[in-house]
Amino acid sequence: MRSHYCGEVNETLLGQEVTVSGWVHHRRDHGGVIFIDLRDREGVVQVVFDPDPERLNAFHVAEKARNEFVLQITGQVRNRPEGTVNPDIATGQIEILADTIEVLSAAETPPFQLDDENVSEEHRLHYRYIDLRRPEMYTRIKMRAEITRAIRNYLDEQGFLDIETPMLTKATPEGARDYLVPSRTHTQQFFALPQSPQLFKQLLMVSGFDKYYQIVRCFRDEDLRADRQPEFTQIDIETAFLDEETIMQSMEEMIRQLFAQVLEQPLPNPFPRMSYAQAMLRYGSDKPDLRIDLELVELSEVVQDIEFKVFSGPAKDNNGRVAALRVPKGCDLTRKQIDVYTQFVAIYGAKGLAYIKVNAKEKGREGLQSPIVKFFPDEILEEILTRTGSENGDLIFFGADKAHIVNEALGALRIKVAQDMDLVQHGWQPLWVVDFPMFEWDDNHQCWNALHHPFTAPSCDTAALQNNPEKALSRAYDMVLNGTELGGGSIRIHDAAMQHSVFELLGISTEDAKEKFGFFLDALKYGCPPHGGIAFGLDRLVMLMTGANSIREVMAFPKTQTAACLLTGAPSQAGMGQLRELGIKFRQTDKEKSGE
Ligand code: AMO
Ligand code: AMP
Repeated sequence: MRSHYCGEVNETLLGQEVTVSGWVHHRRDHGGVIFIDLRDREGVVQVVFDPDPERLNAFHVAEKARNEFVLQITGQVRNRPEGTVNPDIATGQIEILADTIEVLSAAETPPFQLDDENVSEEHRLHYRYIDLRRPEMYTRIKMRAEITRAIRNYLDEQGFLDIETPMLTKATPEGARDYLVPSRTHTQQFFALPQSPQLFKQLLMVSGFDKYYQIVRCFRDEDLRADRQPEFTQIDIETAFLDEETIMQSMEEMIRQLFAQVLEQPLPNPFPRMSYAQAMLRYGSDKPDLRIDLELVELSEVVQDIEFKVFSGPAKDNNGRVAALRVPKGCDLTRKQIDVYTQFVAIYGAKGLAYIKVNAKEKGREGLQSPIVKFFPDEILEEILTRTGSENGDLIFFGADKAHIVNEALGALRIKVAQDMDLVQHGWQPLWVVDFPMFEWDDNHQCWNALHHPFTAPSCDTAALQNNPEKALSRAYDMVLNGTELGGGSIRIHDAAMQHSVFELLGISTEDAKEKFGFFLDALKYGCPPHGGIAFGLDRLVMLMTGANSIREVMAFPKTQTAACLLTGAPSQAGMGQLRELGIKFRQTDKEKSGE
């Protein structure tokens, strides 16, 4: 039904007859001549209809065509008249003079115009099949296919095998809630959809497949954000007999080749590496955006003994931290803007946002404007100015609290200030974050949690792990790009005794471990090679590479922030018959019982 895509008709086809099929993008009736911009996934081409007796039939059909009609048109390619050339599009030199036209499908007035930029996301998702017709959506979805193709090519060439793992399975602990699927044949029992294929890919190593990959859907019932969806896609990878050095080199090479092929952008070789401890100290984040030069400055030891308890308290507390963030030329910030930043850090639990404006540092404390300088002796003020490297005109923000609150608050403030003040450099800044702690302490539940997942190997032996769990580091690595965690992985535990120790530290009892992961613990006993791997978030990778501001913009059919599909109306109620077959009966809620 076509000889060429609309977007591919160009001056090399001058004088030739072509057939194109697509949607009416725009139609203009210039009294006597009709122009139709016909669109398909490759672009738009201008088609002209004139009332020449030989082409009169086509002209009359074109008169009745409306936006989003599906047409098949045959005609001659000719140069556009002078003055009507459009250098911005690939087909801008030419037009098609139509001889015949057929309406393949009429269309009702669409619920929104494709070039309307003010359509709500809800409306877009409701009519996603129309939204996807927008040229920028075509571009992003096509680039996504190009990216997966490049990744597959790399992994295939490197000898990785693409192996599928089950979707109906048992829970895998990746820190989110599971999506459960009731079983009909085993009433009162449930499958879990995989949060990742973690255990299966490790089992494939036990089986000897050596190098595995899968571009695979994962399911996580967690609070959603711009870079999180309940179902998303991982580029999931596992290898045996390779150490972290080899794995990291191969993975960064894959990403380098991808950026070179798809975006023609060079990435550094090798990627820089930073320890988790350094990342938290300097950026307050384990996924630092290195496009921003601003850094947090540690002040705990400087302010330990001052009288201002708001600072000296956390400075003396082992779990506390006092840090500063210098904002170049921040003196121009108004009281109101500072208030907005104070509200911003409050989201992260910060109780305030102290600041000093450095108006004229040569004047000593007289040259500093701040509600808190009165609490600081001269020499400490001077030390703060030196450590932060402050110049006249700068502003210094302070955070004093539990370390995790200061890190989260100042870490996020660093990015917000940089965006507001246009301090984010262009380009790509990848890095590896390494030397993660094995565990983090959960104050609420008074227990250790795995920072990655419980199958990650520590870099120490079992005795050291048990004696000092808080000091133990893991053999995990995260790839970070422009402040987004693109992927994370680790060398795994391949020894049953070590796996038991880690479960024990995590408070998972032997019975519990057996019930949940017995099949996996058994496998460790039957010849498990040293192994490790990584998983990348494909949606996040595509989001960054296309410059989109949410992963929803690079998924054909994403869900909303409340994990619903507006297009199909899922989730929805199940029929009584279906529920009966599954042995499911709903309990009355307390409200229903009391008849409210
Ligand atoms: P992790 O949980 O770090 O590791 O996930 C790997 C990568 O997947 C992406 N990602 C997400 N993308 C969109 N929406 C989500 N809800 C979401 N959650 C995660 C991120 C993340 O870096 N099994 C381990 C990997 C391994 O150890 O090999 C795992 O799943 O980009
Ligand atoms: P206050 O003594 O509460 O009036 O606070 C004096 C200044 O310190 C104000 O600018 C507060 O915003 C700031 N401040 C209060 N608590 C903190 C904190 N935990 N970290 C940083 N600044 C704070």
